[in-house]
Amino acid sequence: MVDMMGLPERFLSTSSGGGVLQHSASDGALCALLAARERCSGYTTNLRGVSERMTVYTSTQAHSSIEKGIAVAGLGRENLRTIAVDETFALCPDQLEDAIVADLRAGARPCCVVATVGTTSSGAVDPLPAIGDICRRHSLWLHVDAASYGTAALCPEFRDLFRGLELADSYCFNPHKWMFVNFDCDCFYVADRAALIRTLSVLPEYLKNKATESGAVIDYRDWHVPLGRRFRALKLWFVIRHYGVEGLRAKVREHVAIARQFAQWVDEHPQFERVAPTPLNLISFRHVAGDAASQAVLERVNQSGRAYLSHTRLRDQFVIRMSIGQTHTQLQHVQRAWELICAASRDVMTNDE
Ligand SMILES: Cc1ncc(COP(=O)(O)O)c(C=O)c1O
Repeated sequence: MVDMMGLPERFLSTSSGGGVLQHSASDGALCALLAARERCSGYTTNLRGVSERMTVYTSTQAHSSIEKGIAVAGLGRENLRTIAVDETFALCPDQLEDAIVADLRAGARPCCVVATVGTTSSGAVDPLPAIGDICRRHSLWLHVDAASYGTAALCPEFRDLFRGLELADSYCFNPHKWMFVNFDCDCFYVADRAALIRTLSVLPEYLKNKATESGAVIDYRDWHVPLGRRFRALKLWFVIRHYGVEGLRAKVREHVAIARQFAQWVDEHPQFERVAPTPLNLISFRHVAGDAASQAVLERVNQSGRAYLSHTRLRDQFVIRMSIGQTHTQLQHVQRAWELICAASRDVMTNDE
């Protein structure tokens, strides 16, 4: 996967790090937060519990799984700092630095930053080089969540979105989102496996064996919360074998091209507007008549039973999300969905008059 996607060599098990298949991006974030917590506390928290106020930083647009991970890791939701974003919904590095400095002054221990490549609501890409630089200067763990957009790294032309990933301590993306693998399948990587293993390793008598003692095997039970593991590699391997690397790339390119076409339709339509840039396959848009009209369009389309759209809020406005990434989605399907959306808009505007 590292070769295929041009990921940093530090993530290879032949280097200092390694990767493991997990259930979900939420599990990946939790493991990253646990390792960050342990490294920050000199590996004493597992032993004695949390004894100081450790703070975690992410953007206002980060996925809710980060807040959940902080709660589960016992770091305390109050110690999550949500950093403001710019006009593209990407985290503002200056504000991040200010928040870290303010916490240091207040006697807290800044512990971890979670950056996102492809936020759920708008597909925003946080500036990894600047964030990584801040993490290095303040010795913070950097976790990068690319749950959905991570698949795009298959294509060299999209790798610029991942620039700075070599500064990350951990990284995850979900082949079960956009790489045509059935749920569940999350690729989770660390740059320093020793930190993760030291955080999660427990060795009772009944798990002792010669292969572990001699170092002949990698004990993946020390890389995540569960002991038992599903054979996720099998389905991932079969998907790669079925499509081939070029086949996967072709699908991703096709989806991005369809998304760009959809974005153009939205831009050209007088009643709709995009509310965020479209770097890859997510289009966030709204009805210009306001929240009630956007919501009515969404409900009409969903009630038709022919397409299903989800929604979010951006800048306190109701926003419709169109994500092109299903295995068999083609332009004709998206075109029909767009026709439904336009028809719903006509109905909504007529009813209003
Ligand atoms: C950016 C991002 N991170 C994390 C997640 C959570 O993914 P999972 O269901 O694998 O925990 C999502 C899900 O939509 C997401 O969009």
